[in-house]
Amino acid sequence: MIAKVVELLLTAEIFNRNENLTEDDIPKEIRKIFYTNGGIRRPLVVRENLLKAAVNYDDRELKKLPFVDINNFNRQIKITSFDLAVKWMAKNGVELIRRNPVLAYFYENYDSLGVSYSEARKYNKPKHSDAEWLKSMIEELRKDESTAEMLDLVRIFSPEEIEDNFSQVVLEEYQLNEIRKIETAIEEREWLRKVGLREVGKLLFIGPPGTGKTTTARALSKKLSMPLVEVKLSMITSQFLGETSKNIEKVFEIAKKLTPCILFIDEFDYVAKTRTSDEHAAVKRAVNTLLKSIDEINLVDDGVLLIAATNHPSLLDSAVWRRFDKIVEFPEPSESVRRRIFEITLSKIPGNYDIDRLVEMTSGFTGAEVKLVVREAVLSALVEGRKELTMDDLVKAVQDVKGRLDLKNSY
Ligand SMILES: Nc1ncnc2c1ncn2[C@@H]1O[C@H](COP(=O)(O)OP(=O)(O)OP(=O)(O)O)[C@@H](O)[C@H]1O
Ligand SMILES: [Mg+2]
Repeated sequence: MIAKVVELLLTAEIFNRNENLTEDDIPKEIRKIFYTNGGIRRPLVVRENLLKAAVNYDDRELKKLPFVDINNFNRQIKITSFDLAVKWMAKNGVELIRRNPVLAYFYENYDSLGVSYSEARKYNKPKHSDAEWLKSMIEELRKDESTAEMLDLVRIFSPEEIEDNFSQVVLEEYQLNEIRKIETAIEEREWLRKVGLREVGKLLFIGPPGTGKTTTARALSKKLSMPLVEVKLSMITSQFLGETSKNIEKVFEIAKKLTPCILFIDEFDYVAKTRTSDEHAAVKRAVNTLLKSIDEINLVDDGVLLIAATNHPSLLDSAVWRRFDKIVEFPEPSESVRRRIFEITLSKIPGNYDIDRLVEMTSGFTGAEVKLVVREAVLSALVEGRKELTMDDLVKAVQDVKGRLDLKNSY
């Protein structure tokens, strides 16, 4: 569509002319072709290959536009008459302008198009939700050798590539409440800074394995459109003196560079655990570094939401505990949570089953085990050539998973 070509050319031109427009004002599909290492830089230059990557258009139609020139030598595409282009777009692309903050900014006071910059901003996801943005930032971080090493020990997800979402994680009302508070805190960051309330945005998730801690952190990343930096403390703990402390510092540094983001520290008890086993000076130092790093980061100033998770909260001493403004419990799921998980996981699977009975039979199961029951049942039905589930399949699967739990508990 040729209007999309003009949209892109005008967006680049207006963005270059207005220093107060930011990357977040450029629509996502346009933004992604301009990422270079470390983000987007002015001036945006449109070349034919970039344009072809972003828009499907007919070369003949492009040549017919009286205000566009293609340089035969470097294939740069330029607007030769800004005024003509502006008029053309107002006539042929109002719907595109409406959703494009850069254009809406320019056209807001133009004739009576009735477009609004703030409306357009609402349609446009911020740059840090783009996988391309994250990739360009990581490339930049890789240039530093010691950071590059650390990048291999953490996992970094763009919200775009995360599959977990809150329609599939079943949480209790009090857990959802904490999540809503965090959402609001992020929206009201400026105000919180103004009134001096900086100590928000440090969450500790506690609960047994398989109760949804990791899934919730990932779903949050998707919901808040913030990249997720995930690290397991065991992965960055080293037997070499001082190495662990350095690694911890590096992880926080990476998070600060990718801001706004979520820093998810899993197996948070790992350092504490090693501390109880041997009171080595290096371990003490690592714990202190961890505490100091937590103190020096906050959501309001740095845009980093810190989430730590542990299965063994009793191993954490009070100095650690005190640093989190919210402790969110992930207990063994209640009846109603198990029911919802069954309903959701079985929703697309044909068959005849009694969910009430399943809920009753799975008392003490975690969310992960409930899902395992369904998976087991589906697989045994498939082996017998059936795509429909029976209650019998599910009951057998429950017993199977129970057997596993008993086996585990006997060791
Ligand atoms: N409340 C829940 N709702 C929906 N799915 C759940 C729930 N709890 C766990 N699950 C499912 O169980 C699996 C494991 O969950 P997850 O990895 O989030 O657990 P965890 O609490 O992080 O465990 P660990 O402490 O071992 O890291 C995932 O597939 C997840 O979808
Ligand atoms: Mg986990």
